[in-house]
Amino acid sequence: MKKSFYITTPIYYVNDKPHIGHAYTTILADVFARYHRKKGQKTFFLTGLDEHGQKVQQAAQENSVSPKQHCDGMVTRFTDLWEKLHISNDDFIRTTEDRHKKVVQKILSKVFKSGDIYEAEYEGLYSVSEERFITEKEAGTGNFRDIKKLKEKNYFFKMSNYQNTLIKYIQDNPNFIQPLHRKNEILGFLRQPLNDLCISRPKTRLDWGIELPFDNNYVTYVWFDALINYITAPGYGENKEKFKEFWPASYHLIGKDILTTHAVYWPTMLMSAGIELPETIFAHGWWLMGDSKMSKSIGNVVNPIDLIDDYGVDPVRYFLMREMVLGQDSNFTMELFINRYNSDLANDFGNLLSRVSTLMKKNYNGEIPSPGELNESELNIKRDSIVLNKSVDKMMRKMQLNESIELIMKFVRNVNKYMENNAPWKLVKKDLKAAATVLYTAAEALRISAVLLSPIMPNRTEILLETFNAKGTNEKWGGLLPGSKIKDHEPLFPRLK
Ligand code: ME8
Ligand code: MG
Repeated sequence: MKKSFYITTPIYYVNDKPHIGHAYTTILADVFARYHRKKGQKTFFLTGLDEHGQKVQQAAQENSVSPKQHCDGMVTRFTDLWEKLHISNDDFIRTTEDRHKKVVQKILSKVFKSGDIYEAEYEGLYSVSEERFITEKEAGTGNFRDIKKLKEKNYFFKMSNYQNTLIKYIQDNPNFIQPLHRKNEILGFLRQPLNDLCISRPKTRLDWGIELPFDNNYVTYVWFDALINYITAPGYGENKEKFKEFWPASYHLIGKDILTTHAVYWPTMLMSAGIELPETIFAHGWWLMGDSKMSKSIGNVVNPIDLIDDYGVDPVRYFLMREMVLGQDSNFTMELFINRYNSDLANDFGNLLSRVSTLMKKNYNGEIPSPGELNESELNIKRDSIVLNKSVDKMMRKMQLNESIELIMKFVRNVNKYMENNAPWKLVKKDLKAAATVLYTAAEALRISAVLLSPIMPNRTEILLETFNAKGTNEKWGGLLPGSKIKDHEPLFPRLK
């Protein structure tokens, strides 16, 4: 296992309003960052904003402000949401920062010197909405708006030089592109000859970007600029120690919409610049709204702020992490959200806590009672918890998040069954000592579940741990201290109607 863990999200376009899709990737990265931090790994979690390009320039013009002022005004849309969602990022990068411009220019110079950049006149179809040249075939798909014919002198990056090296690299490193079907998609794409990448925009057409170090009549194409953020933040060329500690990144998390830029442009750029490739590019699927993609233009976006205001942060985080099978598309509906909340959080998890804590408060002076000797069914729960810890760890290291949540909740359901079987609410009247063992066992199992769920629901699990005076305990059996006072708490997950 590598000593450090470095995870990134895409840097989002500053112009979009963040919706549940952006929230999803960012929470996902947050869960893994929290998990690895908790395991004691030195962790670096990066997110940020992609601020250059034509759309920003246009929007700024429409509002009669400078592009930078326009961006500055947009930033809090994202940072406020990340704060609300309890995102624990270690850095927040904006591509308009000096630290980033420096690195982009450094990489451009390197790639230029290595002979991988050439100037050429190119005539072709240009999609203004996508901000790139497109092929005749692409134009025919109807997916591109604002298509113009453009004849321009530009700089091109010889991606084609690296086509074979990249294919070999992908084949030799089975974990490089995940999940498997995305790797196959890229290998399929690479069966066609790879076109070179136009990496400049003439200032006469667009000047909101990073100037090319070898020709000040041009700015850098926004994708060539944006991808480099992943090495700027850990200190490429500036902070040798930090860069060595965190690069190559453990994971670039992305949506499947930006797979080619990450799995083809980015690695060939790095190869040309002589920099190691990231360990894994992981592409997740889309959140759909009743089968269509969530998008501003369709007008079917779910605003995460509204959801948080209505239901709380942790239930939103839980739902998104539990419901999506990583790599596949998922449907978002309020009905699914409410059903999932009620069955998992209110019934299985929240109820268990209120039952146990109420009985302890009433019958044991508000303290956690001492357990007697564990019988077979109690030893089973203890053994299950040990197996659960191992399985969760294995799954988390393989990005099987929803499966690991499922396992934890299955464990919780088994503890509920154990409670039903032993009915401590009756047992307290006959045999306080025996009931103490049952309640201690259930509380201890619940505590372990809360520790395991804490990267997903950092807040509510902390309330649970505080209730049992068990903050800071780990997932090993035996963390509950008999005799500690039980704290009062609000119902953890009140049932939704
Ligand atoms: O592409 N479901 O930024 P972007 C799931 N700036 N995830 C979704 C989603 C949905 N419906 N919609 C968006 C860009 N996402 C570039 C990236 S990186 C060097 C530059 C998430 O604002 C998902 O992570 O369009 C997707 O890849 C990202 O938002 C795209 O964000
Ligand atoms: Mg997009």
